[in-house]
Amino acid sequence: DFFMSIKSIFEQRLSTAMVGVGLPTETSPSVRPSVRPEFGDYQANGVMRAAKVAGENPRNLAKKILAAADLSDLVDLAEIAGPGFINLHLKKVFIAKQLSENDSKRTSTRVPKTVVIDYSGPNLAKEMHVGHLRSTIIGDCIARVHEHLGNKVVRQNHMGDWGTQFGMLIAELEYHMTSGETAELVLNDLEKFYQRAKTRFDSESAFADQARKYVVRLQSGDQHCLRLWQHFIDVSIQHNLNIYHRLNVSLKKEHIKAESSYNHQLEELVSRLSRSGIAVDDQGAKVIFLHEISDRNGRASVMIIRKSDGGYLYATTDLAALEHRAKILKANRILYFIDARQALHMKQVFSAGRLAGLVSDEVTLEHHPFGTMMGNDGKPFKTRTGGTVKLENLIDESIQRAADLVAIKNSTLHDNEILEIAKKVGIGAIKYADLSKHRSTDYVFNWDAMLSLNGNTGPYLQYAYTRICSIFKRAKVEMTQYSSKVIVNNDEEKKLCLKILQFNEVLEQVAEDSLPHLLCGYLYELASAFMCFYEKCPILKSTVAVETYQSRLTLCSKTGETIFTGLKLLGIEVTEKM
Ligand code: ARG
Repeated sequence: DFFMSIKSIFEQRLSTAMVGVGLPTETSPSVRPSVRPEFGDYQANGVMRAAKVAGENPRNLAKKILAAADLSDLVDLAEIAGPGFINLHLKKVFIAKQLSENDSKRTSTRVPKTVVIDYSGPNLAKEMHVGHLRSTIIGDCIARVHEHLGNKVVRQNHMGDWGTQFGMLIAELEYHMTSGETAELVLNDLEKFYQRAKTRFDSESAFADQARKYVVRLQSGDQHCLRLWQHFIDVSIQHNLNIYHRLNVSLKKEHIKAESSYNHQLEELVSRLSRSGIAVDDQGAKVIFLHEISDRNGRASVMIIRKSDGGYLYATTDLAALEHRAKILKANRILYFIDARQALHMKQVFSAGRLAGLVSDEVTLEHHPFGTMMGNDGKPFKTRTGGTVKLENLIDESIQRAADLVAIKNSTLHDNEILEIAKKVGIGAIKYADLSKHRSTDYVFNWDAMLSLNGNTGPYLQYAYTRICSIFKRAKVEMTQYSSKVIVNNDEEKKLCLKILQFNEVLEQVAEDSLPHLLCGYLYELASAFMCFYEKCPILKSTVAVETYQSRLTLCSKTGETIFTGLKLLGIEVTEKM
């Protein structure tokens, strides 16, 4: 037995009525929550389009549909508004019944999909910095949401562990190790290490020659160079895994599928594409002309897959990765969370991949780009001295600032309690600030705004959760799964119930569009609806009838559970005290 969302119940009833009045079966009533209370609780917006197709007056058609539809158990009122909207004012008993059934039934009828998600993918030649933050946390949220909805998620961390910089880095590493230092110590500060190597590369020609030689030796599989490279990679990966852990990001070692893992496939791939005529020779290089992506003058976009010196590129590896995801991982959807500046690269990879048959037409390929994190000066976020902000430092600072905030807010807490809470609040604030903005736009990074206890912020939601916890503490009742019969008597209860019921609809939308801000916006509205309810509807007062007490406590528990799960899907932890 499946639980149907309110949206789908109305869609089903209205669709049946639409077919009943002679409309084609594929016409959709297009039901969604109303944006304003005077438009009811839900709205059907599909009649206008249906009327256009049928060549009928939309208001008349709406009248006919309503006459044919049986909605008496669902609504107090279904009224036609404007050019042909149907506003649905839901019955309180229907909402209460939905909320009770929500517990006992499964929520999804969909066939699970295999969703491959490419996210984070830092370059290992540098320490993880703010430039990696958005891909990492947006991708992680979407992965969690798909898993929650029952899809099979395959995380792919396409780390950049190969390329010419590594010649310089292993030459530097060798220099230190031959003078007796351990790799661990030398690589303790990756950023410094990288800078030293770069300085030496630019100023010492013998070192630069050595570095270039090492690139070639590395590529031809030289054992000595590979060992040095492996040393470097191992330390760098461990550093990144620590960052993921601190950020509460679900990426683990087994999700790493780095660029180098495709090396052994590139030669075969390029010769296969050449044989089939997809890739052609051009000034000694192998290229693919993509007519699908041509410029204003009709010239095809050119994608190089092998340089004239025989070297392979970022694009070549991405083609191999695409084929792996489609054919070996058997993806239905492949999602890429990569900076908007790589839009052309992704377009080329997708276009070439289709052209070459590396991926079949049924598989959807989706680049979900995102904008840049800006500083208060409107330029990309930097340290005060203009350097890149390391994630390590960003995390430390967020925890410190959150600790100050918590200490002021609640003076009864011990230092170690403050630290535990501050970790959750600090990390939550950074992540929430990012996830709550529309992914595709740039946004300004602002400590005070993200740590504010008012408004659409992480701390506000975490605080709302602590309020609910304290209600249960005072009631001396266990919150999790507290469940009793729900009675909906007033508008505050009704609004809160509706919000709770909309959780799954929102998650479906988030998964469909890969937009985490929809979930944030929803949680904020839920918490706000709860605050209104809490103000208007007494729970623990002795004058409250026992059924009302139980019903209201049930609403508290369901709200708490939804905030808990919603934040978890954003990769944010809750706390019972704050
Ligand atoms: N390493 C790349 C970068 O830092 C991101 C990798 C994204 N994934 C991909 N399949 N290209 O820009």
